[in-house]
Order: sequence, then structure tokens, then C-alpha cells
Amino acid sequence: MHNKFLPSFVQRKGRITKSQEDNLNNLHSYQITSHSQILSEKDNFKEIILEIGFGNGDNLVNLAQENPHNLYIGSEVYLAGIGQVLGAIRDNELTNIRLITGDIRLFLDEINQPIFDAVLIICPDPWPKLKHHKRRMINSEFLNLTHKVLKLSGHLFMSTDWANYAESIEELINQNSIFEVLTSSSYEHLKLTKFQQRAIEEGRKIYPFSLKKN
Ligand SMILES: C[S@@+](CC[C@H](N)C(=O)[O-])C[C@H]1O[C@@H](n2cnc3c(N)ncnc32)[C@H](O)[C@@H]1O
Repeated sequence: MHNKFLPSFVQRKGRITKSQEDNLNNLHSYQITSHSQILSEKDNFKEIILEIGFGNGDNLVNLAQENPHNLYIGSEVYLAGIGQVLGAIRDNELTNIRLITGDIRLFLDEINQPIFDAVLIICPDPWPKLKHHKRRMINSEFLNLTHKVLKLSGHLFMSTDWANYAESIEELINQNSIFEVLTSSSYEHLKLTKFQQRAIEEGRKIYPFSLKKN
């Protein structure tokens, strides 16, 4: 598929362990390549939640364990993280996680109906250099994409650990009336991710944004 979006990630190979690599052999059992696969399962679950860029998958796995009646769709391009989550699915016998492994914006672009109750994005790649800001995932096009796939009253929860990214998200939200800004969200109280922990250790703050589709 041709990518009409500027890359929002660097395809990091990272260090992939033997067990993560072995787990990837089982990816086909959980991988989703078309939204019709989500629709075919929707009646079996109370809510459908998408986490974009789940990293090592701690949140995705915790949420799926704590809420077995919900379906969690995890999106990531980082193979070690995908392998890690596949291992957790097997070890914990989870039946409510599915995975999307390409650029999530291409997947969302193809959907023309609301299917998600919530979309979560925690610590999107910050692209701190000014010349790279155009690669940041959260922009007005992304807000429109998520708005289109969220159900009415569905939540978009975003958080960044970069003050400058937070400022640009704030501006975007102020200019954009398709979402209502909520003062808080239960997603603010998720366990800190690896990137959030690092940010705090390095003295940065976490800036959460909770929006609701009206
Ligand atoms: C900075 S990491 C944060 C990971 C995790 N949320 C955390 O807080 O630990 C951002 C992740 O988003 C993923 N990512 C970036 N752009 C993406 C895209 N277009 N589609 C899917 N995943 C993407 C990257 O691969 C990366 O693992």
C-alpha cells in the first residue's frame, strides 16, 4: 500500500529476543488487516478500544486483562514490541487482543464508519527538531481520522511528555470544534509506560489530553 502520510516513526529494529522472534510466528492468529475483521467480532464485546503505538504493550495487556469484556486492538510497527505482546497473549491466555502492524493511519483511512469506543495514544514519537515537526502523528488530519472512526461520545485520549508537542496539541484542539475537551479521563490513571517513566526520570512532565466526540 502506498503511504500517503509522512513517516511518523523510524522503523527501529531494536534488540529483538529469540522468544519475541519465535512469538512473531504466531502473529497471523491475531493480526487484523481489514476493519471488517473487527466488525465481525463486535457483538462479542462491550467496547472496542484502539491503542496506537503500544510500544512494549504493557498498557494494552493490562487493560485486556482487567477488562475481558472489551476488545483491545493494538497498533504498532516495532517488531520487538509486537513479539512481546504475542508472548503475553499466550502466557495469559488472552482472547481479547488483536494487532495491526502497519502504519495505523493507512488502516484508519480505509474505514468509513465509527467502530471504536476509544482511541489511545501515549507518548507518540516527539520529533523534537523543528524541521521534523511535520512528522508528528498528532495533527489536524489525525484528529479528523480518529473522529471518523470513533463512535458518538467515544473518547480520544492522548498524552505527550514533550512540552512543545503539548503546546501544538493544545493549539490544535482550540482550533478544532469536532471534539469536546474533557477535564479528566480514566485513561490518565493508567500505569506509566516505559517512555513516560523515562520522561519523569529525565525531569519532563506528562501532558494528558482527553477529548470526546460530539
Ligand atoms: C515513543 S514510542 C511510545 C510507546 C508507548 N506508547 C510508550 O509510551 O511506552 C511511540 C511508538 O509509536 C509507534 N508508532 C509511531 N507511528 C506509528 C504509526 N503511524 N502507526 C503505528 N505505530 C506507530 C512507534 O513504533 C513507537 O513504538
